Amino acid sequence: MGKLVIDGGNKISGEIGVQGAKNAVLPILAATVMADGVCTLKNCPYLRDVDKTDLVLERLGCRVHRAGNTVTVDTRGMCDCKICEDLMREMRSSIIFLGAIISRCKKAVVSMPGGCPIGLRPIDLHLKALRELGVDIQEEHGYIKCSTDKIVGGNIHLDFPSVGATENAMLAAVCAEGFTTITNAAREPEIVDLGNFLNCMGAKVRGMGGSVIKIEGVSKLHGAEYTIMPDRIVAATYLAASAITGGEICLKNVNPRDMVAMLHVLLDMGVQLRIEKDKIIQKAPKKLESIHIVRTMPYPGFPTDIQSPFMALATVARGTSIFIENIFENRFQHVDELTRMGADIKVEGRSAVVRGVNALQGANVVARELRGGAALVVAALAANGTTTIGGTEFIDRGYENIEKYLLECGAKIRRE
Ligand code: EPZ
Repeated sequence: MGKLVIDGGNKISGEIGVQGAKNAVLPILAATVMADGVCTLKNCPYLRDVDKTDLVLERLGCRVHRAGNTVTVDTRGMCDCKICEDLMREMRSSIIFLGAIISRCKKAVVSMPGGCPIGLRPIDLHLKALRELGVDIQEEHGYIKCSTDKIVGGNIHLDFPSVGATENAMLAAVCAEGFTTITNAAREPEIVDLGNFLNCMGAKVRGMGGSVIKIEGVSKLHGAEYTIMPDRIVAATYLAASAITGGEICLKNVNPRDMVAMLHVLLDMGVQLRIEKDKIIQKAPKKLESIHIVRTMPYPGFPTDIQSPFMALATVARGTSIFIENIFENRFQHVDELTRMGADIKVEGRSAVVRGVNALQGANVVARELRGGAALVVAALAANGTTTIGGTEFIDRGYENIEKYLLECGAKIRRE
């Protein structure tokens, strides 16, 4: 278990080119198995989750080659349709392969993904959507066994705009016979990116980004070249890192239109922003204002993934902030660790009341999941003294080389 050691107090100022989006590249890598050919993906971040997804592809018989931030996937040797327990336990979001494997092989066997530190992570909506497309699904001995003679287009209604269920439905439907409509679909930008990639492969997907997605099934898909969208959560995390230290930062290779809810919260906290097409320049005040109340919601609402890094901001803001976590049932694990650093946070069910303190103190803390770990990094950058953060393997799942980017912006940070 690696550690990050941070001496707080330096302003985080400078320029960062933001990495490709983890939550776009993972479903897009899964989608490559649907073409019997070669796909080239640019702006692929170096992340543990990408490495694990590459491993799933290789276990399925595909060949994966990385040259810098470009990943090439050759699926012509695909010879399996099963994702074993070891891989699924390593990364539960491999469930996103289900729709893609079924689409190509008309069968799939995956180990049940189970939960993770932030919640139970059920997949009932995924399975209901696939059944709607004519897929027979048996759940036995810890495995989900899917098979079908052919996938038939249908009308899928999602009880909740689940990102993963929307993605699995899209992947299964693009080569179905006939038309598919997905209503109450997730509207996240990563869904748009997946739909754009599928269309580059020859699919006919319309309406991504809205709550109704329409798909006309095609007979086959071909390889494609595609550039992954910027990571809006990583971008907002770096804005938080600079804001908590009173710094001035320029983010390049971002899409501000994907970040409206987050940027509004930062403005309410007192930062100044200059927005350009693919650039955000932020100048932070000496002391941030509190966030009156923030509710995590499906896109375009405030993203659950930035709740914890922004809670770190609120711990040293002027006044009291309230966070309501509506998406996952256990996404306040960072609170204990922030409290060890002197934060004043009271959790009641899905609400966390954060009373701003004058300053945090460095301490030994541990990341228990990806975004909670990012929150500890944000807090440590402003804390008085040294903070040691254990559990860096969680942070490395979603943040490419975090210490490199922060070092270049003035942080005193090292990895042990
Ligand atoms: C994706 O997870 C992201 N992961 C998550 O990012 C993100 O927090 C989440 O979407 C919400 O935006 C990836 O894209 C790899 P959901 P996903 O299905 O698809 C319930 C990060 O930190 N639900 O939209 O699993 C579920 O319990 C990660 O980068 C069902 O009830 O999210 C949750 O309460 C964390 N049944 C809610 O929906 C289902 O079948 C949202 O889940 C599916 C979901």
